[in-house]
Amino acid sequence: MNIRCTTESATELNCDLLAIGVPKDSVAAAVTSLEDAFGGALATTLEGDEFKGEPGQTASYPTFGNIGAPRLLLVGIGDGDASGIQAAAGQAGSFARKSGAETVGLALGGLDAATTQRAIEAFAVGNYRFDKYKAETDRKARAAELVFVGDADANSFSGAIAVSRGQELARNLVNEPAAAIYPETLADVAQGIAGGSLTVEVWDHKKIAAAGMGGITAVGQGSDRKPRFIHMHYKPAGTPTRKIALVGKGVTFDAGGYSLKPSAGMQTMRCDMAGSAAVIGTMQAIRDIEPNTEVHGIVGAAENLISGGAYKLGDVLTMHNGKTVEIHNTDAEGRLVLADCLSYASKLGVDAIVDLATLTGACVVALGDHYVGMFTQDDPLAESLSSGANDAGEQIWRMPLPSAYKELLKAEWGTIKNVGGRAGGAITAALFLSEFVDGPAWAHLDIAGPAFLDKGHKHIASGGTGTMVRTLTRWLTS
Ligand code: BES
Ligand code: MN
Ligand code: ZN
Repeated sequence: MNIRCTTESATELNCDLLAIGVPKDSVAAAVTSLEDAFGGALATTLEGDEFKGEPGQTASYPTFGNIGAPRLLLVGIGDGDASGIQAAAGQAGSFARKSGAETVGLALGGLDAATTQRAIEAFAVGNYRFDKYKAETDRKARAAELVFVGDADANSFSGAIAVSRGQELARNLVNEPAAAIYPETLADVAQGIAGGSLTVEVWDHKKIAAAGMGGITAVGQGSDRKPRFIHMHYKPAGTPTRKIALVGKGVTFDAGGYSLKPSAGMQTMRCDMAGSAAVIGTMQAIRDIEPNTEVHGIVGAAENLISGGAYKLGDVLTMHNGKTVEIHNTDAEGRLVLADCLSYASKLGVDAIVDLATLTGACVVALGDHYVGMFTQDDPLAESLSSGANDAGEQIWRMPLPSAYKELLKAEWGTIKNVGGRAGGAITAALFLSEFVDGPAWAHLDIAGPAFLDKGHKHIASGGTGTMVRTLTRWLTS
């Protein structure tokens, strides 16, 4: 998508769709310059349509050739703060895609650097649909050009595009069926983003087993599609100010294994690699933005299926860090994959590790679809991640991580068992992971709710959301 600013007036600009931001409760004032084109009836029409300028509220009218654009979209910006601008730009993107508008004019008032970035990213999010398997006739063009009418910060364009592309990559990876994205092809995609200061190394299942990664090995052994371990490494040209590892759960399909999921719960389990998709998308954005932070992206990719070779209840696995895990439920597989990755990441000499995983249904029960659960003992890390989320317009909620609950993971035969029971399921999953982190500060983000939407929400289409790409890139580049 090409982005530019214009000094033309909104009414002059030739584009397929003109979107104009309207502040809450000052609708008439916001549309005075358009009244000539609508015979002086626009404000009263909007009042009749109960358009009040609430954040993301929309009203659209044809313009019958009276202005440069054939269609007008009025979109509420509320108080005009960053979240109001985000909601408005997102709706403009979504409306543009529904109507197939290729050139879109966006008049949201003067935007500073941070708000310009928010607006572009939201527009891109709203403009996204995963329609590659739809009939040609059921597809609409995506926007090719976004034109800011009025002041926007042109220095923010390239960074916002890099982030948007990273988030789009993450969404595509999640939306692709498990027949297309399995460990080997996920690794191919990761390899494909190598370039500039980013290198990518991939291990096959033999190397994974030889490295003592008993978790990834066990989870992956029930599938014909063998597991992969992916290590992406962005090394800045200068001396890095920080060294960070991102770790992503890459279960390309989670059938549950012998603790088989019911059909309804399995329907969307191609989304179980959303953590890895967020890591890959973020690494791509980091490659393009080139911050002074050294970043490792670690992914454990495996498919959790049933076969004569699948792992079983009662198995005792030996993990990368030497601890043994007693299997009480083969559907608690994400933590096994992550455990090996966290142990590996602990040895990289990084200051902090952040893992992302669609880890527990319990986190969805606790926080719903719109909040990521954050688990960490490290207050400064929690604060900096929350502030990244705040700047990105994404929602994170910190959860408790009481070591007292470790009791629930006591094993009879091994060091630890892989489930802690129903109560506090998201917490015991996080505590399980903590057993495999040794050294760096660490935070776990349970994205099981926000990673995938069964139904579209506001300007975000159903399916993969690319959650946390915007937050992580801000956190890594600030
Ligand atoms: N991938 C699931 C978690 C999940 C649930 C992700 C819903 C997205 C939406 C995970 O592997 C899983 O099955 N977790 C179990 C853990 C349980 C067996 C302790 C769960 O949440 O039921
Ligand atoms: Mn599972
Ligand atoms: Zn899973």
